Formats: sequence, structure tokens, C-alpha cells
Amino acid sequence: MIEVQTTSQLQEQLQDAREQGKTIGFVPTMGALHGGHQSLVRACAQTCDLVVVSIYVNPLQFGPHEDYHEYPRQLEKDRVLAEEAGCDVLFCPTDEEIYPDGYTQTVHVKQGANVLCGKSRPGHFDGVATVVLKLFMLVQPDFAFFGEKDAQQVAIIKQLVKEFFLPVTIVACPTVREDDGLAKSSRNANLTPAERQVAPKLYAALRDAAKSPTSQLSDLVQQVRQHLAALPLGCIDYVEAYEYPSLKKVEQSDGIVILALAYQFSKARLIDHILIDMN
Ligand code: PAJ
Repeated sequence: MIEVQTTSQLQEQLQDAREQGKTIGFVPTMGALHGGHQSLVRACAQTCDLVVVSIYVNPLQFGPHEDYHEYPRQLEKDRVLAEEAGCDVLFCPTDEEIYPDGYTQTVHVKQGANVLCGKSRPGHFDGVATVVLKLFMLVQPDFAFFGEKDAQQVAIIKQLVKEFFLPVTIVACPTVREDDGLAKSSRNANLTPAERQVAPKLYAALRDAAKSPTSQLSDLVQQVRQHLAALPLGCIDYVEAYEYPSLKKVEQSDGIVILALAYQFSKARLIDHILIDMN
């Protein structure tokens, strides 16, 4: 595995692969890698000749009161995990490399960003779309791998690719969970031991609600809210249900619905969701 920090070093590494007609696969991350990220890198290595992983904690996608400074940074451990999963080129740029002129031009996501995480994190998806567009232009991958865990992010990135005619295929990979059902997340490291005990109940609440025979989305939301209200720690940020992947608000559905939540612990805000076939 080769590690590069500058965009010109990255181009040097990619040039040979491009000339040889190799397929380039890309996994963008913010580091603090875990089994979820590794599953994307492994999927990428299975499909592509050259695997590029980026580690960049993108300031533009964090709000002023969010956890940008507390976001876990562990490059030494990440190097090992990335290489073990099959990374060939690890791109770890500085802010100056990605935003050489500051934020004079950004992408504005007008649809799909005003629900779920977009509602409680205004500007978040503008930041994500901006950095992903920049990274795509630098890496010019044939395939890029994203986790279904961030279902709204996947929907928005697919739309970005479509609307800007980007020559890349987006591959969405399933959520990797701990044995107790908690979705693997870099932010789990910021849970206290007591919060870590409570955290698996988030997915349990979604699973329980998904079993109920209702076709009303508000019933599903209500059931999850009741479960979460009984938890001894943390508080609800949102519980919402939409048609998926359109993220349209509907009263009832006989198609696929996303039931999603965000839950705030003392130093970690966790998200999770379940897709329900209402048919
Ligand atoms: P980050 O949170 O580091 O996640 C990088 C990728 O790993 C995302 O596509 C995310 O959905 C995926 N991922 C995280 N946890 C996962 C899990 N438990 N199972 C499967 N995949 C998982 O998402 C971002 O970074 C950023 O927004 C980024 C796209 C890099 C732009 O800055």
C-alpha cells in the first residue's frame, strides 16, 4: 500500500493504472476505520484492479456545534486496517489540498436534504456533496463504494452522479453490525460504557416496529418513539419514515419505506434505519 497526501502525488500513483486500462475503485472515508469501512474496501478490491481509499475529516459537512474536533482521528491504526482490507493507495489530504481557495464554490443539494439528517444538520449534505464531487474529480474512479448505513447519503450521491453526468458507478454495500445489533460507527468510540449498553436498543426498536402489521407510517414512527422514550440515557433527535428511495413524505405505503432515527448520547449522535417492505 502506498500513502499519499497531495493531489499531485495521487495523480502520479493513478497515472500508470489509467494508462494500463485498470479499473479504479474508490472508498471515501473520514477515517477511524472499522469493520463497516473494511467491508467497502473488500467489496472494492473484489471488483476493481486498483483500490483507492481516502481519509479526510471534511470540515464543510460539520455544523458549528457538531463534533468536528472530537471526531476520532487514528491514522496509524487506519493504515493497518485499510491495507488489511485490500487498499492499494491511501489518500490522506490536508484541508489546503482539498480546499485550496477556501469555500468559494460549493454544491447545494436542493432535494432530499431537508429530511432526516439534513433537517437536524443544515448544510451537512452540501458539505458531503461538495467533498465527494472534489474527491471524484481527483480520483476519477470507475466505481465508488458507499455504505447503506448512511442511506440518505447514498440517495443524494446517486443523484449527484446522475445530475452532473459523473462517469462513476455507485455501489451501495450492506450495513455491518456488532453482534448485539449496533451498527458499526466511528462515533461508537465516543459512547460511555453505560451508553454502549443502551445503544443496541436503537436497532431493536426499529426491528420491533418493522414487525407490526400497520400500513400507516405515523404508527411506525410512534412505536419507535415509545421504545426510545423508555431508554435511561440520551434523547431522540428524530424518528421519521418516508417512501424509499424517493424520501417523499406519504401517509401510508405499499412499497418500500425507510424508518430512520437519530439519537443523541452525551458525546455521540448515532443514526440507524431499517427498510420495510409494506407490501
Ligand atoms: P464515514 O462516516 O467515514 O463513512 C465512510 C463510508 O463507510 C460511508 O459510505 C459509510 O456509509 C460507510 N459505513 C460507515 N459505517 C458503516 C457500517 N457499519 N456498515 C457499512 N458501511 C459503513 O460517510 C462519510 O464518512 C463521509 O460523509 C464521506 C462520504 C467520506 C464524505 O466526507
